Amino acid sequence: MTTSVDNTASAIAHTNIALIKYWGKANEKLTIPYTGSISLTLDKFYTKTKVTFDSQLHADKLFVNGTEQTNLKKAARVLNRVRQLADTNSFAKIESENFVPTSAGFASSASAFAALAGASAAAAGLELDKPALSRLARLGSGSASRSIFGDFVEWLPGDNDENSFAQPLENVTLTDIAVVAVKVNAHQKTISSSEGMKSSAQTSPYYAEWQNVVNRDIVNLKHALTTNNFSLFGQISEANAMRMHALTLSSLPPFTYFEPGTLEVINEVQDLRAQGIECYYTIDAGPNVKILTQTANIPLIKDQLSKQFSPTKISVAHPGPGIEVIKH
Ligand code: PMV
Repeated sequence: MTTSVDNTASAIAHTNIALIKYWGKANEKLTIPYTGSISLTLDKFYTKTKVTFDSQLHADKLFVNGTEQTNLKKAARVLNRVRQLADTNSFAKIESENFVPTSAGFASSASAFAALAGASAAAAGLELDKPALSRLARLGSGSASRSIFGDFVEWLPGDNDENSFAQPLENVTLTDIAVVAVKVNAHQKTISSSEGMKSSAQTSPYYAEWQNVVNRDIVNLKHALTTNNFSLFGQISEANAMRMHALTLSSLPPFTYFEPGTLEVINEVQDLRAQGIECYYTIDAGPNVKILTQTANIPLIKDQLSKQFSPTKISVAHPGPGIEVIKH
């Protein structure tokens, strides 16, 4: 029997920065990755989304920061699953506010689809546990599966819809972590992460080895996190980011998310390290750079960066919380 629901709920989800990157889908329709990945949820960047299922609507409607969107393809994957689970045919109005620079490597899709999953499930009256919410968020965007949880999170790749979800990492003793985010460019990226990873998986001669590398990096990063070893944590994260970007450079045709400013920040990080200030960089599918460091180094890093970058381009984040769902 098909019923209609008429309900509203909101959710707040924070974005995450991948330390061991997800780059390639074994199943595009279900967003099943080839490899696992590890991320850190950040306190500073988040999305707040309100979903109302309304039996009077004739189609789903999506507003991001007040502007109506025409491409609802990814959102529809989440909403259709919710409708199927809740046994309803009502359409939804989604109002989303992004406190993240959109599409420039700050992974707004992670917080956006995690918030959409949490809000739409609650609005439809579903009571999903966190692994189920993670699976739902994954349908919108892979990295969103990790934004259901706070702090350090691992996405277990699985090989089907049921066993591909994220979970918090256990026994982490490395707690003094800060991220200095440098906004090199906030423009919309030209190659989406979906297109980019598809190209790399299909054409980079290094893709098969990437999968072995990720499996090793995951084991080593977990060791660093559970033995409070910041140096090892930074070295593995930085190397993994560059190995992912090597896949873009070795794709056919080759491409890169780097811009001149990206390389400038990399140079600054190397300079800071040479001065004995311990920090490492990581970069997602965009030009912006996140510097991984510890609290005591933040003023020194900001000082050095301020010689080249305006303070408005620099923000500091710390580990952030998991999803919060608010039923109206
Ligand atoms: O979740 P997507 O489709 O936006 O892809 C995310 C890809 C990276 O940010 C580069 C890596 C990751 O693990 O988040």
